[in-house]
Amino acid sequence: MEYLTKSAVAATEIAPSSAPSAELFSTWEKSPMAALAPSLAHRAQAGSRGAPDEGAAQAPAFVIVGEGAGDVQAREALLDRAMGPNRKKKSSEKLRRGRRPSEGLAFVARDASGAVVGTVRLWDVRLGEGSPALLLGPLAVEPGLKNGGVGSALMRHAVAEAARLGHGAILLVGDAPYYGRFGFSADCTGTLAMPGPYERHRLLALELKDGALDGARGTIKAAGRKLKGQGLGLIA
Ligand SMILES: CC(C)(COP(=O)(O)OP(=O)(O)OC[C@H]1O[C@@H](n2cnc3c(N)ncnc32)[C@H](O)[C@@H]1OP(=O)(O)O)[C@@H](O)C(=O)NCCC(=O)NCCS
Repeated sequence: MEYLTKSAVAATEIAPSSAPSAELFSTWEKSPMAALAPSLAHRAQAGSRGAPDEGAAQAPAFVIVGEGAGDVQAREALLDRAMGPNRKKKSSEKLRRGRRPSEGLAFVARDASGAVVGTVRLWDVRLGEGSPALLLGPLAVEPGLKNGGVGSALMRHAVAEAARLGHGAILLVGDAPYYGRFGFSADCTGTLAMPGPYERHRLLALELKDGALDGARGTIKAAGRKLKGQGLGLIA
């Protein structure tokens, strides 16, 4: 297990060739203590600067793990809180609905009480009639914990795992000023399109293998494993 401060999370290089730790722990440096579970707030404060037990190992504030079946309801509730009721009207949703995330690429961040405080998933897609790729999203963090490094830790873990599993490229629709720090840009996406309304400058991509997006063109299509049975929305 690897313990990191928020600044250490930000400085961590994405290293596709090296497998990330199965679990990534991080500590917040500037998240509002009031928003944390009492036990976590206590432990985070105890590990912060100037505390009497300075020098002792910092307690983990959150951990990133693979999403489990028991996380689904908490994840959906978190997405509602973080993104609002219109989140399911996005074009990206067309590429996710009725599908399972790409194998091994659904993650949650948990606080010390075990509560889900962040989520990110990646989905198998096809670029036009051409090569396979991943679509990332939604990425969301508990609103009270914004700017505490959870989103960055989820992104870096997700990208590193996708690279380790051999994927060539990741696409997403989002804010370039945020996702640019993880290497995403609109440089390679001008010839690609989402299957519905979207803002072209927000379609971003990251190549995990050099040239993975060379010649990519056309509308992005869902290519993930299909869900079976009832309650598709809940278990997706
Ligand atoms: C966007 C989100 C995932 C970021 O996660 P987070 O844990 O709050 O962010 P981090 O702590 O990793 O990063 C914070 C940094 O990103 C910046 N940032 C956050 N959102 C940003 C945005 N939309 N555009 C530009 N910068 C952004 C912050 O200003 C901060 O900058 P700093 O490091 O220079 O101080 C989170 O705020 C969230 O869930 N938002 C609501 C849902 C959402 O918008 N999801 C993304 C859909 S595209």
